[in-house]
Amino acid sequence: MHILHIISSPRSNSYSRQLGHQIVEKLLAAHPGSTVLERDLTIHPLPHLEEVFVQGIFTPAEARTPQQQTAVGHSDEVIDQVLAADVLVIGSPMYNFSISSSLKAWLDHLVRAGVTFSYGANGPQGLLKGKKVYLALASGGVYSGASPMAAYDFMAPYLKPVLGFIGLTDVEVVRVEGTSMPDLEPTALAKAIESVAV
Ligand SMILES: Cc1cc2nc3c(=O)[nH]c(=O)nc-3n(C[C@H](O)[C@H](O)[C@H](O)COP(=O)(O)O)c2cc1C
Repeated sequence: MHILHIISSPRSNSYSRQLGHQIVEKLLAAHPGSTVLERDLTIHPLPHLEEVFVQGIFTPAEARTPQQQTAVGHSDEVIDQVLAADVLVIGSPMYNFSISSSLKAWLDHLVRAGVTFSYGANGPQGLLKGKKVYLALASGGVYSGASPMAAYDFMAPYLKPVLGFIGLTDVEVVRVEGTSMPDLEPTALAKAIESVAV
C-alpha cells in the first residue's frame, strides 16, 4: 500500500500534523511494508493559479509554451502523486473557518477538467477511483455534532464534496477540536487518534 500524507499547517508541533502522522503510523502498523510520501505544503508550496496556468491547461500538451509547461507541471506532479497513492492522509488547520490557503492551492492543482474529472452525458464524473482518504483537521473551537458553531465549519463541508467531485468518495473525517480551549485541549489529540479506525 502507498500512502500520501499532505501537511498544510506551518506549525512544527501542529495538531493536524501530529494527527496525520499518527494516522500514518496506524496504517503502517496495519499494513506492514507500506510506503509513505510526505508532502509538506508549507515547505514546498504550490503557486496561486495564474493566467499562464489557465491558458496551459486548455492548450494541448505538445503546443504549450515553456512557461505554460512549468505552470501545468505543478498540477501534473500533484495529480501523479495522488494517482500513485492508495490512501491519502490530508491535514489542515482551521483558519478563519476554512482550510489553509496552501491546501486550497493544492486542491486547485488537483481538480482538473479532463484529468481528474470529466463532463459526460450524465454530468460531471470523478476520475480518481478506489482510494481511501483521511482528513486530519484541527480547530481552536468545536464545530462537530450539535455545536452552535457547526454552521461556521467550512472545512469538512468543503473538502468532502470537492474530493467527491473528483471521485474520492471514501472520506473519513478526524477532528482535533478545541485546541484553543483550556478544558478541551489536553485530551483533544488523544481523543482524535483513538477515534481512527484503519
Ligand atoms: C490565523 C488563524 C486563524 C484561525 N482561525 C480559526 C477559526 O476560524 N476557528 C477556530 O476554531 N480556530 C481558528 N484558529 C485556531 C486554529 O484552528 C488552531 O490553533 C488549530 O489547532 C490550528 O491547527 P494546527 O494545530 O494543525 O496548526 C485560527 C488560528 C490562526 C493562527
